[in-house]
Amino acid sequence: MLDFALTADGRPTYSLTCDGKDAILPSTLGFELVKAEPLLAGFRIDGVENAEEDETWQPVWGENSEIRNHYNELLVHLSQPATERKMDIRFRVYDDGAGFRYEFPIQDKLVYFVVKEERSQFAMPGDCLAWWIAGDYDTQEYEYTESRLSEIRHLIAGAVDSNLSQTVFSPTGVQTSIQLKADNGLYINLHEAALVDYSCMHLNLDDQNMVFESWLTPDAQGNKGHLQCPVKSPWRAIIVSDDARDMLASNLILNLNDPCAYDDVSWIKPVKYVGVWWEMIGGGKQWSYTFDLPSVKLDQLDYSKTKPHGQHSANTENVKRYIDFAAEHGFDQVLVEGWNIGWEDWSGNEKDYVFDFLTPYPDFDLPGLNAYAHSKGVRLMMHHETSASVRNYERHMEQAYQLMDKYGYNSVKSGYVGNIIPRGEHHYGQYMVNHYLYAVTEAAKHHIMVNGHEAVRPTGLCRTYPNLIGNESARGTEYESFVGNTPGHTTVLPFTRLQGGPMDYTPGIFEMDMTKVNPNRTSGHVNSTLARQLALYVTMYSPLQMAADIPDHYEQFMDAFQFIKDVPVDWQESRYLEAEPGRYITVARKDKNGEGWYVGCTAAEQGHESALALDFLDPNRQYVATVYSDAADAHYYDNPQAYKIQKGLVDNKTKLALKAAPGGGYAISIVPVADQAEAKALKKLKLK
Ligand code: NOJ
Ligand code: CA
Repeated sequence: MLDFALTADGRPTYSLTCDGKDAILPSTLGFELVKAEPLLAGFRIDGVENAEEDETWQPVWGENSEIRNHYNELLVHLSQPATERKMDIRFRVYDDGAGFRYEFPIQDKLVYFVVKEERSQFAMPGDCLAWWIAGDYDTQEYEYTESRLSEIRHLIAGAVDSNLSQTVFSPTGVQTSIQLKADNGLYINLHEAALVDYSCMHLNLDDQNMVFESWLTPDAQGNKGHLQCPVKSPWRAIIVSDDARDMLASNLILNLNDPCAYDDVSWIKPVKYVGVWWEMIGGGKQWSYTFDLPSVKLDQLDYSKTKPHGQHSANTENVKRYIDFAAEHGFDQVLVEGWNIGWEDWSGNEKDYVFDFLTPYPDFDLPGLNAYAHSKGVRLMMHHETSASVRNYERHMEQAYQLMDKYGYNSVKSGYVGNIIPRGEHHYGQYMVNHYLYAVTEAAKHHIMVNGHEAVRPTGLCRTYPNLIGNESARGTEYESFVGNTPGHTTVLPFTRLQGGPMDYTPGIFEMDMTKVNPNRTSGHVNSTLARQLALYVTMYSPLQMAADIPDHYEQFMDAFQFIKDVPVDWQESRYLEAEPGRYITVARKDKNGEGWYVGCTAAEQGHESALALDFLDPNRQYVATVYSDAADAHYYDNPQAYKIQKGLVDNKTKLALKAAPGGGYAISIVPVADQAEAKALKKLKLK
């Protein structure tokens, strides 16, 4: 239940309860403006409007083929008599939480305004447990810390590790989405929805009173937003339930976004891909072509006079090897990074004209490789690393998309490593928020799908712009190669980062010892069992899934690789069976284009035991289940490749006792029995 009131001095306040328990205690709302009176107090209510919505809509891709959007709405018209300015607040209350946003109608006394700070409060019911990352204007590539709110101040220094661009702003600043658990048993999640033409919201904690307040990302001048009426803020979203599984099943963020903006979506397709990538990330191979040109301007590069270093992965022969592998195993696309000139001097120098996104390296046969891929039913995936030189990217964007059209690319992975140019802007400021969406809507004109790395974390905009098929915007698998992720990381991400939209987490690593990937390395370990890497295809929902390891490693474990080949990337229905942030997640999903179900479980350091009832299966069918699980002695560090595969018949009465090792997990494919012969050949599944 949501309550709205004005305080005695005319401050808008709201509070939220869930089944009688406090979720948000009375919290004030408003703005401070630059060179104008604040919009914080002295309001009166001019009127209220109530509405109800109950509709079902179909996402282009998703965890479910149908989503119910059911809410009660309260629109409060406020005015500030002393300044004759108006401000509306629209609330929507759902079974699983609430959202609110500010709306400024056209008016005489407020036309253009500059935000000094949005002052939306979220007063928490006590010193909650929280899964948080440090507030930062430029990166989300951090591990989550689990602590009480009161401990954030003491833990924040250790919660930040170095990144190519970072701007931490407060000892108690955190990012959204943040997952909380109150002592009254409620799980509470704070995020935003539909972040458009506004700066990204962080939260700053008053840790005496346990009150979060919005803290927007500034522009180069330190202002927090330039707005012109009529204008609306993004939604401030609060997901609440006493059951952690409901946090993951919630569609609140998507529901708060606008319906699809495109008439024709037939060109938007989920993608399973491999890529020329991990060998550079961890294997010592290079994006660049030569070591001779470390600081030459892009338009003066002459590769014909240089000596190739021989480590360039995006060469025609190697890319063909990946295309063959993709075609043989049924992948849709092959990502190729390092195909274009400029990688000799791409990061760290804040170079403006860093790439042209058009010119291939001399050893990358752009037309020939695309033709070769298409002849095998595979496409190449484009890569646009911008080095955060956004002016340069926008200068080239149209030509770059035209090049993609010419050769038949329909998806691009983009990246924003480093400090933003224009200088002083931040990854999460209004300027960049507008850029990311511009890249997506311009891409749509070319029927191109976008997967942005280092971009602002998603806020459900994929409902409106479904060619935004992925984002990184969190700490992904690349960190397993750099310094390792904690085994619990992927048991937090679905509660936090994934609330806003899918993540290009790039799972599927089979060789955990990085010294085997690159003999020149002396250390490096992927903190996961192999079975857990399979489970990630189910637990980390995304319509864009990579099999990130190199073909040689998959070829050593073809029986396990079968799960990656089989697992769908689009779903009819999803059921969260077990969940606790930072501990374990178990989910079952039904193929959107078939009758098969796929189950994934990932566990943190403690491991996990599940008693699974397969009662979600069709009672009129018999199924073949293939269980890929950790062997008894598996362990994410000491014995990560110990897995077992068991197969047998199951039905909707079957109950399975399964165990995930420390940092482990399991994956199950459950497909209807093809025919009587298959049913006869198999026994009822009995797990050992
Ligand atoms: C960082 C991205 O996350 C990674 O996937 C990519 O390979 C590098 N940037 C280079 O663009
Ligand atoms: Ca990254």
